[in-house]
Amino acid sequence: MTYLAEVRNIIKSYSLPGQAPVTPVLNDISLEIPANASIAIIGPSGSGKTTLLNILGTLDKPGSGEVFIEGEPLASLDDDQLAGIRNSRIGFVFQLHYLLPQLTLLENVLLPLLPVKDRLKRSAATGRAGQLLELTGLAEKSHRRPGELSTGECQRAAVVRALINQPALLLADEPTGSLDTENAALMTSLLNTLKKEENLAMVVVTHSPELASAMETCYRLRSGKLEKA
Ligand SMILES: Nc1ncnc2c1ncn2[C@@H]1O[C@H](COP(=O)(O)OP(=O)(O)OP(=O)(O)O)[C@@H](O)[C@H]1O
Ligand SMILES: [Mg+2]
Repeated sequence: MTYLAEVRNIIKSYSLPGQAPVTPVLNDISLEIPANASIAIIGPSGSGKTTLLNILGTLDKPGSGEVFIEGEPLASLDDDQLAGIRNSRIGFVFQLHYLLPQLTLLENVLLPLLPVKDRLKRSAATGRAGQLLELTGLAEKSHRRPGELSTGECQRAAVVRALINQPALLLADEPTGSLDTENAALMTSLLNTLKKEENLAMVVVTHSPELASAMETCYRLRSGKLEKA
């Protein structure tokens, strides 16, 4: 069976210059992500959750083991090909939203289209941005800059930006980390709506029990190992 994404027996260690090798952060981890799955990853601070997400998202490479996106082994791809997959198949939501302060919300969510030359695609994406901003309750504010919006609104805009190129896989690192209870609940239901409407698979790293339990499967990362929670 081909999974949307898969990591097989990955090991990742960080060694600091001049220091002895440390115990691996990820120690022989395998994870299969079927299309349209929703997965939560929980675990203590420093257990390697972001490291695993970055490897899944082709932003980082494991020391050993294999990563596949749609059956393609990433080790066989060069940097341009990896960037292509990252831009077209994967959407990221980082813990800090990284919206650009000088751009409006609409301009921010359209940023991933910068490398896209095709005018038809660009105008379709502008329409899509409008729909997604509507769905996330941001339509009225699409011409404001991030400084004129709440943290929850910026975080929702970051989700729209991650989805603008219609990725198959959404990776979100603590998407409710900086939100209050009410906004966290909004984000949780937004992710569930998007999963249904966009036919998305998502892997969400979270400390929130509510968000974790809203996902179909939950794993815990601890002492380098991943286990079903
Ligand atoms: N570039 C790096 N160089 C050296 N060590 C690193 C580097 N990045 C992460 N680490 C170490 O690897 C471990 C895992 O880090 P990671 O960021 O994946 O943890 P995390 O589970 O996401 O934690 P948190 O919940 O605090 O975000 C930590 O001990 C961290 O200090
Ligand atoms: Mg982290």
